[in-house]
Amino acid sequence: MRALKNILVSGGAGFIGCNFIRFLFSKKDFSGRIINLDALSYAGNMANLSDIETQFGGDRYFFEHGNICDRPFVERVFKEYDIDTVVHFAAESHVDRSILGPQAFIETNVVGTWTLLDSARCAWKNTDNSLREDVLFHHISTDEVYGSLTETGYFTEKTPYDPRSPYSASKASSDHFALAYYHTYGLPVTLSNCSNNYGPYQFPEKLVPLMILNMIDGKRLPVYGDGKNIRDWLYVEDHNAAVWLIMEKGKAGDTYNIGGENEWENIKLLYTLIDIVADKIKADPQKIKNTITFVQDRLGHDRRYAIDCSKIKNNLGWKRTVNFKEGLERTVEWYCANHPWIENIRTGEYQRWIEKNYSQRSKK
Ligand SMILES: NC(=O)c1ccc[n+]([C@@H]2O[C@H](COP(=O)([O-])OP(=O)(O)OC[C@H]3O[C@@H](n4cnc5c(N)ncnc54)[C@H](O)[C@@H]3O)[C@@H](O)[C@H]2O)c1
Repeated sequence: MRALKNILVSGGAGFIGCNFIRFLFSKKDFSGRIINLDALSYAGNMANLSDIETQFGGDRYFFEHGNICDRPFVERVFKEYDIDTVVHFAAESHVDRSILGPQAFIETNVVGTWTLLDSARCAWKNTDNSLREDVLFHHISTDEVYGSLTETGYFTEKTPYDPRSPYSASKASSDHFALAYYHTYGLPVTLSNCSNNYGPYQFPEKLVPLMILNMIDGKRLPVYGDGKNIRDWLYVEDHNAAVWLIMEKGKAGDTYNIGGENEWENIKLLYTLIDIVADKIKADPQKIKNTITFVQDRLGHDRRYAIDCSKIKNNLGWKRTVNFKEGLERTVEWYCANHPWIENIRTGEYQRWIEKNYSQRSKK
């Protein structure tokens, strides 16, 4: 039986991680502790969990500010909280940034993942050198490791890896390390490869929030290439429910694909989003459509991703619960209702947590 009691969530101040922590605290049958380990890169935001901190801080929720590449720090966290489970979200996650500067992706996604894996292996050793059996390391990955599809076919868990951007290459490498630790050392590892997530708290550099905010501000809507690249879209809550199922029931050493069975050309997604935002802010959808601007395509832009998620459906009983229109409506609603969150990002105020916190500590 897995303990699932003292759960280290890496990258919990980011988009999916903060939604995951929120999801766990909303579960009536979850009574464990969550230790959120996050370096607060540009994508990490303490405001994402301020209500959780107020409700559960110091009792069932703990924040540890630091880098997953920092071995002594990671080891201290494992020891201090008697960590029995890791859910590893922390990553450099934006493809465009990886094209501009791959180094941070190698450091965090490859070296950082290895550091977490090896720290877990050392922390979970019994005195006779065998490994604890009630522990789990769940590694979060992406469908992008599988490469690009033409008009037909789907990625299955058996599709050979063919990463094509520095981001997906770094994620592929981390996946290989995670499974290597299972095969070599017997570390109980599970892995999931999901499609594009969308929902509240997503940093506004990613397609859905970027477009919503540009529409609200009357700015142009930049679309790469011909707009016909296809992605599968998954509401973040459905993703997190799948992750939890894997943690509870997934087989060690196994990979699970998680997708929304919901493929959209970027341009068609944008038209749908425009209709929803226009309705919400009482604007003319055609006027917003006129602001669409096709820009030079992303280097090496993969054409199509599509996921076959029958394994997690059949083996673990997961299914998507939020349809795309409803998910987009909820997302638009959230961004319209959370102006201060957006303003803090625009002004950079959200990044002052470190400065404020450390100066308060040094005054004490
Ligand atoms: N967002 C998606 O659509 C999507 C799709 C597939 C897979 N994924 C994967 O899911 C995970 C989470 O993605 P996200 O969109 O929430 O990312 P995000 O960029 O919103 O958040 C990443 C978090 O990791 C933290 N972080 C970055 N470097 C760190 C380091 N060295 N040490 C500790 N913390 C660090 C950041 O501060 C941030 O809080 C990533 O592993 C990503 O590859 C995301």
